Amino acid sequence: MTMLRTVVLGCGSYLPSRVVSNAELAASVDTSDEWIVQRTGIRQRHVAAEGELTSDLAIHAARAALASAHVDPQTIDLIVLATSTPDNTFPASAVTVQAGLGITRGAAFDLQAVCSGFVFALATADGLLRTGTYKRALVIGAETFSRILDWSDRTTCVLFGDGAGAVVLEAQQQPGERDDRGILTTHLRSDGRHKSKLYVDGGPSSTRTVGFLRMEGRAVFKHAVAMITDVIEDAFRTTGYTANDIDWFVPHQANKRIIDDSAKKLGIAPEKVVMTVSQHGNTSAASIPLALNTAVKDGRIKKGDLVLLEAMGGGFTWGSALLRW
Ligand code: ACO
Repeated sequence: MTMLRTVVLGCGSYLPSRVVSNAELAASVDTSDEWIVQRTGIRQRHVAAEGELTSDLAIHAARAALASAHVDPQTIDLIVLATSTPDNTFPASAVTVQAGLGITRGAAFDLQAVCSGFVFALATADGLLRTGTYKRALVIGAETFSRILDWSDRTTCVLFGDGAGAVVLEAQQQPGERDDRGILTTHLRSDGRHKSKLYVDGGPSSTRTVGFLRMEGRAVFKHAVAMITDVIEDAFRTTGYTANDIDWFVPHQANKRIIDDSAKKLGIAPEKVVMTVSQHGNTSAASIPLALNTAVKDGRIKKGDLVLLEAMGGGFTWGSALLRW
């Protein structure tokens, strides 16, 4: 029996032009290129220019995704923007993106699940598209974490960067089989008992300020691999696919060691892992579409490939998505 599936039509990304190397950071905080590379795999990050906003990054990425999908912006009727660093407390930055793209129909809203934001946004758009109410969606992850970093705190400022990535999605009738194109399954989880391990120490209702990112790095690391593998095993159980069937594993790009350990625990071969963290650090909700776009543009991810996405972040939140490109 045929069924509506959410198919990816195209993707795009954007990184601000200013690159900050580990060596440049080592000039202002007590760190070194060697320490950062060895503990995280990060070599550089991009930082948005003064006045360059999350919505600006998102619009660049969305335009690139629309161009790669050969889709007219006017046919988009849903925009879900995953971000923890919106331009303003409200309105949603998604409406700025909508207006910036000249779109006047449909719905646009932000979604906040920190580093898991892109997977949560993908699952949300998938659910809405499969109701048949919406036809074409833009799912964007865009962040300016440079604005919420305490640049004097070496335990956090070396890890994050700014960027954006986007995908264009369309509801399409598929045969309703395991080898359908599109999103095959998504699994989302949260556990607020861990909220103090990774948070921002400000907000409109608590301090009337934006605040700075605070993190117990070791505690986050300890939970990350177990949570990631948990939701991926859910995806395998639901679909019947195994690690051997996966063509590409595109994880949230937080830390090379977390990615390596997760792939190893799941039995995913290293050559199937897409890793871009060295080039842009942890860009939170933007990291998965940035990595996806890299692997699509360099010819690794091709139509028909089975692609596994996962993310874990503040909250904690974590999630997986399995799709056929
Ligand atoms: N440069 C040099 N030394 C540093 C730095 C730095 N930038 N940061 C911390 N150190 C020092 C510490 O002060 C400590 O010194 P001490 O032994 O004298 O006390 C030492 O290095 C070891 O510190 P740890 O925190 O134990 O180092 P660890 O090996 O755990 O690495 C890191 C820290 C990289 C943060 C790691 O815990 C990690 O990757 N955690 C996951 C965090 C993460 O990725 N968060 C992103 C959001 S969540 C997500 O996206 C999954």
